[in-house]
Amino acid sequence: MSTAILGLQWGDEGKGKITHLLAKEADMVVRFNGGPNAGHTVIDRGVKFGTHLIPAGAFYPGTLSVLSSGMVINFAVLREEWALLSEHLGWQPQLLIAENAHIIMPYHRQLEELEGSGKHFGTTRRGIAPTYSDKTAKLGIRVGDLLYPDVALQRLELKLSFLKRDWPDAPEIQNLDARSLLEEQLTTAEPLLPFIGDATEAIGLAMAAGKNVMFEGAQGALLDVDHGSYPFVTSSSTTFAGLGNSIGIPNPQVDRRLGVFKAYMTRVGAGPFPTIVSGALEERLRTTGGEFGVTTGRPRECGWLDLVALRYAASLNGCSGLAITKLDVLSGFDEIKVCQSYRLNGQSTDKFPLSAEVLERCEPEYETVAGWSEKISQIRDEAELPKSLMAFIELIESVVKVPIEVISVGPEPEATMMRV
Ligand code: IMP
Repeated sequence: MSTAILGLQWGDEGKGKITHLLAKEADMVVRFNGGPNAGHTVIDRGVKFGTHLIPAGAFYPGTLSVLSSGMVINFAVLREEWALLSEHLGWQPQLLIAENAHIIMPYHRQLEELEGSGKHFGTTRRGIAPTYSDKTAKLGIRVGDLLYPDVALQRLELKLSFLKRDWPDAPEIQNLDARSLLEEQLTTAEPLLPFIGDATEAIGLAMAAGKNVMFEGAQGALLDVDHGSYPFVTSSSTTFAGLGNSIGIPNPQVDRRLGVFKAYMTRVGAGPFPTIVSGALEERLRTTGGEFGVTTGRPRECGWLDLVALRYAASLNGCSGLAITKLDVLSGFDEIKVCQSYRLNGQSTDKFPLSAEVLERCEPEYETVAGWSEKISQIRDEAELPKSLMAFIELIESVVKVPIEVISVGPEPEATMMRV
């Protein structure tokens, strides 16, 4: 049995809660993309965590947490997160860090500032794009290089020679020294070095043995570097198509592909957002939904559910089922809007455009449905949910053509109704 948990919007869909819940049954949990730009909110035994790098398997003894090769790792963040979790749990979570994952070096964060790309694209300023750029440009430092410091030093010296040539007037770049950078990485990563290994082999063996392997996605489909609202995207493959490449396994047999989405939409950073709302409505969604970034604390833009985008994202991921989260945030609205199509160039379309500039020109065409007044966060039985809420769910299923298998009505693990 294997499951992939995938975000279907612009991230922040509530994947953390769903993964944490389902990871209880897993033998292995594999994070397959991104880095500390992600922030997965988890409530474990009453304590709230925002995890950035460590997969949710870490919360369960005996479950191996794998950081696979599609990821980019900041060892300072990883070490701190691992120490925090160890303290909370009373044991040290077992990790496997792919030797071919890339390391976020301090200069990657500096580059986002120097180039101005962080500001322009409203990124998380965690050095994500420069690290993935170096990976593709063959100038990256990989996790496994730390086990061969002479190799790491060689790579670093080459990278620094290019950097210094390109930034002659930037003292923060000119002052970089390969040996000190390496020393710093080795010292920070020291307790985690025994976890470095061949993740592809381990995942392959676990899958071949029929173990329960769960794949934890980060960010969402609309932020996918190839299939999202480019260029206002992250720098990794956030969708199922990228999973096989990231873990190094051809055509991975994943039985369940669960797409997670919020009952409304949010976006953080720059980029188009057709169903965005403003004023009191925005304030209400943001405050009730606690819509502030887990990684950066930035307020998220809020808007109505966009079914054009959702259908696109579910189809892109080949979702077998959906999980809807944060329905409790919509309690008390007389009416709820859902976007069924866009008006583009004077015509109605239900196709999600692949360019941010075209998406910017799309006007949402809404259907208005009845809301519900009841507070629902204590409901645990689907039969007790308001009729108009169930009609909202049926409407989504009829448009997206994928069953909603999980209904979440609050942040706690218990506030979840499993329909399968
Ligand atoms: P980057 O991933 O830091 O390069 O940021 C690129 C875009 O993706 C920005 O709009 C970020 O706000 C957004 N982003 C990256 N990670 C997340 C996430 O985990 N949740 C929501 N948005 C994210």
